[in-house]
Amino acid sequence: MSIRCNDANRAFFLQAGGCSYALQVTDGDYLAHVYFGRQLPDSDLSYLLRLDENPFTPSVNDRDRAVYMDTLPFECPCFGIGDYREAAVQILDADGMSACDFRYDSYTVTAGKTAIPGMPATFASDEDAQTLCIRMVDKHAELELLLYYTAFEKLNVITRSAMVKNLGNRSCYIQRLLSATLELDDSNFDMITLNGSWARERHAERAPLHMGKQRIDSVRGESSHQNNPFFALARPNADEDCGEVYGFNLIYSGNFMAQAERTQHQCVRAQIGINPTDFRWLLEPGESFWAPEAVLVYSCEGLGGMSRTFHDLYRTHLIRSPFRDKRRPVLINNWEATYFDFDADKLISIAEEASRLGIELFVMDDGWFGHRDSDNSSLGDWRVYESKLKGGLKPLVDKINALGMEFGIWFEPEMVSPDSDLYRAHPDWAIQIPGRDLTLCRAQYVLDYSRKEVRDYVYNMLCDILRSANITYVKWDMNRQLTEVGSAALPAESQRELWHRYVLGVYELMERFVTDFPHILLENCSGGGARYDAGMLYYSPQIWASDDTDAIERLKIQYGSSLCYPVSAMGAHVSVCPNHAVGRNTSFVTRGHVAMVGTFGYELDVTKLSEEERNMIPWQIDTYKRFCHLMRDGDQYRLANPNSNTEYDAWMFVSKDQSEALFTYVQILRRPNYRSRRITLRGLKADAYYRVEETGAVYSGAALMYAGLNLENLWGDFQSKQIYLTEVEKEC
Ligand code: DGJ
Repeated sequence: MSIRCNDANRAFFLQAGGCSYALQVTDGDYLAHVYFGRQLPDSDLSYLLRLDENPFTPSVNDRDRAVYMDTLPFECPCFGIGDYREAAVQILDADGMSACDFRYDSYTVTAGKTAIPGMPATFASDEDAQTLCIRMVDKHAELELLLYYTAFEKLNVITRSAMVKNLGNRSCYIQRLLSATLELDDSNFDMITLNGSWARERHAERAPLHMGKQRIDSVRGESSHQNNPFFALARPNADEDCGEVYGFNLIYSGNFMAQAERTQHQCVRAQIGINPTDFRWLLEPGESFWAPEAVLVYSCEGLGGMSRTFHDLYRTHLIRSPFRDKRRPVLINNWEATYFDFDADKLISIAEEASRLGIELFVMDDGWFGHRDSDNSSLGDWRVYESKLKGGLKPLVDKINALGMEFGIWFEPEMVSPDSDLYRAHPDWAIQIPGRDLTLCRAQYVLDYSRKEVRDYVYNMLCDILRSANITYVKWDMNRQLTEVGSAALPAESQRELWHRYVLGVYELMERFVTDFPHILLENCSGGGARYDAGMLYYSPQIWASDDTDAIERLKIQYGSSLCYPVSAMGAHVSVCPNHAVGRNTSFVTRGHVAMVGTFGYELDVTKLSEEERNMIPWQIDTYKRFCHLMRDGDQYRLANPNSNTEYDAWMFVSKDQSEALFTYVQILRRPNYRSRRITLRGLKADAYYRVEETGAVYSGAALMYAGLNLENLWGDFQSKQIYLTEVEKEC
């Protein structure tokens, strides 16, 4: 890793892992992008800037400024000065003008990494990263723009963020400030995005770039079930193992946009940041505004290389939880077992059987507070529902602890039910537009987390519960999106800030929570996986991936999630069949193999399982305990794509020293005339030998990777197999 600055040429050269990123200040003090890709030894790449391209006016004018503005690859394109592609920064100044013009001023280089106030971001020691800060100034508007670039020592990663400060004595508005723009010199790319809906989040889609703008976004107040704040630009020939891929991810949990624009000259402008739709931020003299952090990954080892880089970055430089490197307790959650229909006796009977089978943590889900018997009341009244839990929480928790199990609890702290003491006392605490009907969604409203008194009030209730018994796990849920976005506490000129202020409020409360309760394992959740984003990983080492627990549906969800996020963070449970989301029957073994990829647990009534299934649980738990370090710390290789392959899915995890590996095969639909199937493995040492535990057979790594493992085909649909390989001294 190094950042080299050539003062004479005004050029900057960042080296991160095995990649290089180059910037150049041009005549006129514009900051241009030159290169991002494989590592280069050169220190001057300014020859690559194509500044003399034909203007659209005849060539008598070979440096027409308007054309120059519309073709230069900008690091942070400004709105309103002749660049008609998507802008990254737009200001509404005190005179009502919307153009801005930031020009290069100066730079600094520092060891380590700058934190972003109040927002999640990657972190790094002085040895692990270096940060370049480029100062840009708009003299007319009296604004400063700081562009941050962090290069990581061991990873092909550049992180970016931006900050605008008002240096003048008049207020203005920020209309948009995207976190990163990356200009690519050709447009021969496919765009890969993660899309879906409730219960089918993060299905990967891949399509060639076409002219114009291809965009995914959220205006829902959270990152959303529908689109995830991630995209990749892959060369058409890039696959899992080979080819160039650029990955983009926003460390943010609110409205976002992620876009690739194929321009008139067949270049690409790729951008990610807070969604400018309905965004406006008042900047008083002396004030600053920070955009969240964007992560840019470069891979010349296909999608697999990109994913492993994201996984390593997030496991070592984003997730902070003390649980990060620990085996998570195997949990049982009562949601699909009971929904709202439970009392203490029922929970204890499930816990007794669960503890006998070796399950370590009991999680009491929704329905334990206020007078909540369905989802139409009590959110905001975080007091125990005594008619369900007689004597309160402590006797229940003590009994569960006495069974040798830990106890966890569910909250939905950002919400309020119209039927709640909280709403009756403080109707103005809900996000709303006074005088307009408030849209109900899941019979609830969203609390105005931009207000400190609201956050404090809710937090104190949470603390009372958490301190009333021995609680070691919290599931933080969020089950609706925002509507009628207005705050009773903000002046008119700051109302459009509420989208972002809400997210900042959530972050502030989560920060307080992880500071005050470091011994509590936090799992984020949002109606399944609607807030499955890197922002949340800064606070919780795991996130519930989806309300769809069907093993076959999960293949697509887990494939897509793993493109960017480490599977060690993925909440995954074994549930009953027929599955509650799709009615499908799959074997208990397959459900176990699929859930074992994530933070393993159960979400069913163990007292109602068949003897055969119940007997499998101790074996599944032992298997998970034996191998979970591979999923948590190892390298993931996807060996099939369940979006296009209807016959099977397969993946493997390899320890960092390549001495052991776990291979999993899931047969989706059985195909006739295929008694066995060769699957080539990945990530092993070609010149080492590996023993297949099940058969004792020994094969070279080369044979396993280049020729394959011959896998007996399983009879029937939805079957699975797990194979453990260890390195052995030599061929036996
Ligand atoms: C949505 C979550 O994803 C579920 O697991 C469950 O906790 C419900 N909310 C409870 O309302």
